[in-house]
Amino acid sequence: MKRKLKAILVFGFVKDLHSEDEDLSSVGSGEGENDINILKALCTIRPVEGEEGIPLINRVIEPDVARLAKFRQKTEKLHNCFKTPANVDFEWIPMTFQEYISQKKANDVKFDVVHFIHSIYYVEVEDVLLHCYENELGRKGIILTISHEEENPMLKFREKFPDQRVASFPRNRDAVAVASERGWKYVVCPGDSNNLDITTIFDSFSREGNYLLDFLSNRVNVRQNEDKESLEKILKFWEEQSFINEHGRRIVELRDNAVIILKGFGH
Ligand SMILES: C[S@@+](CC[C@H](N)C(=O)[O-])C[C@H]1O[C@@H](n2cnc3c(N)ncnc32)[C@H](O)[C@@H]1O
Repeated sequence: MKRKLKAILVFGFVKDLHSEDEDLSSVGSGEGENDINILKALCTIRPVEGEEGIPLINRVIEPDVARLAKFRQKTEKLHNCFKTPANVDFEWIPMTFQEYISQKKANDVKFDVVHFIHSIYYVEVEDVLLHCYENELGRKGIILTISHEEENPMLKFREKFPDQRVASFPRNRDAVAVASERGWKYVVCPGDSNNLDITTIFDSFSREGNYLLDFLSNRVNVRQNEDKESLEKILKFWEEQSFINEHGRRIVELRDNAVIILKGFGH
C-alpha cells in the first residue's frame, strides 16, 4: 500500500513528459527500494503500440557505497518486477549530490524526473533545487521531494531536542518556499504513513531497541551518551507520541508528504 501511493503520485504527472526516452535521476537512493517502485510506475506509462518498452536512464547518486552495491544487486533481476517490458540503463554515482554537482559537465544529459526521497535533509535546499531546475531538468520535467510531514514525530523531536551539530533541518516546507519564491509551479501532496513499532526502545537491554532509539532521535548511542535526565525526557517524548495497539505494542505513526515541482507545464 505504502509503495503504491508513491508510484501513483509520480505516474500522475510523468505521463505528460517526453514521448521519447525517460531519464530519471535519484538522489540519496539508499538501497533502492523506493527507486525501484518509481521505476515500476514509470514503466507502466508505455509501451505504446509498436514499442517494445520504455527506454529509461536511471542515474543513481548515493555516497554510501555499501547501500549503492545493495541497490545494484537488486537491479540484476529487475526485469522480473515489471509488468511491461522495460529497458533501464543504470548509472551508478558513488558520491554526495554536492560532489556530483561540482563535477557536472555543461553538456551532460537532461533529466525528466529528479527525486529526493528522504534525502533532501542532507543538502542545501535552495541551491540544490535551483541547480536541478536549471541544469538537471530539460525543457519539461519534475522534481519530487518526499520527506516527513510537519506533524511527523521525528520532526517534532528535532524541534524539542535541537541538535547542536546541525543548524537547521531541511524539510518539504523549504522546498515549497523556494518554489513559490521563484514562481515555479508546484503541488504538495499527502504522502504515505508508516506505523512503527517502538516497544523495544523502552527496554534498555534490547539491542534492536537501542538502535531504533538512535534512529528516532538521530543521535548515536543515546542510552550511553545522554545523561539520565535527558534520556528520561527523550523516552517520555516517544511515549507521548505513541499509542498502544490491540496487541499491546507501542506504535508511532510516521507520515510523509511530497512536493512536486513542475517545469514546462504552464501555469
Ligand atoms: C534516509 S535514506 C533514504 C534512502 C532512500 N531514498 C529511501 O527512500 O529509502 C537517505 C540516503 O541519502 C544518502 N545521503 C546522505 N547524504 C547525502 C548527500 N549529501 N547526497 C546524496 N545522498 C546523500 C544516505 O547515504 C542515505 O542512503
